[in-house]
Amino acid sequence: MEHRKVLLTEDEMPRQWYNILADIAMNPPLGPDGNPVTPDKLAPVFPMNLIEQEVSSQRWIDIPEEVLGVLKIWRPSPLVRALNLEKALGTPARIYFKNESLSPPGSHKPNTAVPQAYYNKVFGIKRMTTETGAGQWGSALAFSCAQFGIECKVFMVRISFDQKPYRKSMMATWGANCVPSPSLETNAGRDALEKNPDTPGSLGIAISEAIEAAVTDTSGQTRYSLGSVLNHVLLHQTIIGLEAKKQMAKINEYPDVIIGCAGGGSNFAGLAFPFVYDKIHGKQIEIYPVEPAGCPTLTKAPFVYDHGDTSKYTPLLPMHSLGHAFVPAPFHAGGLRYHGMAPTVSQLVDEGLLTPKAVKQKEVFEAGVLLARTEGIIPAPETNHALATVIEEAKKAKEEGKEKVILFNWSGHGLLDLTAYESYFAGKIQDVEMTQAEITKAAQVFANHPRPQSLKSKR
Ligand SMILES: Cc1ncc(COP(=O)(O)O)c(C=O)c1O
Repeated sequence: MEHRKVLLTEDEMPRQWYNILADIAMNPPLGPDGNPVTPDKLAPVFPMNLIEQEVSSQRWIDIPEEVLGVLKIWRPSPLVRALNLEKALGTPARIYFKNESLSPPGSHKPNTAVPQAYYNKVFGIKRMTTETGAGQWGSALAFSCAQFGIECKVFMVRISFDQKPYRKSMMATWGANCVPSPSLETNAGRDALEKNPDTPGSLGIAISEAIEAAVTDTSGQTRYSLGSVLNHVLLHQTIIGLEAKKQMAKINEYPDVIIGCAGGGSNFAGLAFPFVYDKIHGKQIEIYPVEPAGCPTLTKAPFVYDHGDTSKYTPLLPMHSLGHAFVPAPFHAGGLRYHGMAPTVSQLVDEGLLTPKAVKQKEVFEAGVLLARTEGIIPAPETNHALATVIEEAKKAKEEGKEKVILFNWSGHGLLDLTAYESYFAGKIQDVEMTQAEITKAAQVFANHPRPQSLKSKR
């Protein structure tokens, strides 16, 4: 009988995260004076223990026991062979995925929410603020704050707030307070509403609100938390790829192709970075981050210095960006509606170590429905972007008659995204694609910013 799942015991869980900063060259984040940002400048926003991780270039970083204790609620996550999908496509490819939908909130997001809540707790923080696009990140931080007894406030992008009201209920169940963004609670929110009272919101605006809510709290006991993009967030997510490597080794497999959807880059990097290490050291692997054609950060936007949020509260980050003021079309994958991308992922794309892809909405939902009907799990709309590319690769392997091994990340389930599936079945999902003129217009906001240097970290 063919095995469907490869499992690890709790004792086999990785005890350290992999830090890619030990292996790649990076441009530094810049402050308003154009100079590299020093850790003390970030202190009002993040606790110092997380800032230290953000700038660390130590290759392996220990996972605290208290963090492992909470991760064990659902980890190690299974590596699953998508046998039914293979059969449905008639492909010679062997397709595997990490099932990250099994966490309490339903996605990979608590892999970093748990350590972030833990480090804030250790630093003496009582309240955390954040934004959420899909609602998955807000739920993940709400769940994690409940584990460590921290208060949690979430600014949820308006369009997602309206599309999936039960995400708010989920956060409330874990004790968090969730409001739609833009809100009237912050200058950033009021400003966005004044400019456009009917705005669907964006992650850029919600991030500004959450940072403002943290730094203006005079008690000094509130800090902000980001669910993607930053180095420490991607570091925490590498537990996915480290587990996958062990699981594949158990069955004598190694991936030829690695695929993950990319919003800010965290689930993709979590799976891919431990394998990027191998690629830097000579392994032949194709690695694809996949984004929506309606928000084509990696495939069409330039590699520039830009702010991570609309109100320019964050430093200038070296990344692919559509411009910090850009508000993406209100398509259903809220977690992929971000103007920027993780600097580490951006750097690796710039060096040609990763090959980004963009997919359109109808193809994305078609893929999600096929996976639901074959593998059983209803995927999150974000995950569907990876799935569309997995199907394309599996079909290519069939045409070429190649026994490729494809590994992808099932970043979340879509059980609270059923409005999106209803729209798809009703024929209401539109393909959204940005034109070059729209990209050029959105890029005006960083015309005067410094440019990152072209660096090469390949050995
Ligand atoms: C299920 C799911 N997958 C993917 C993403 C994209 O985020 P990231 O690129 O940081 O993994 C999100 C973000 O909300 C998500 O909820």
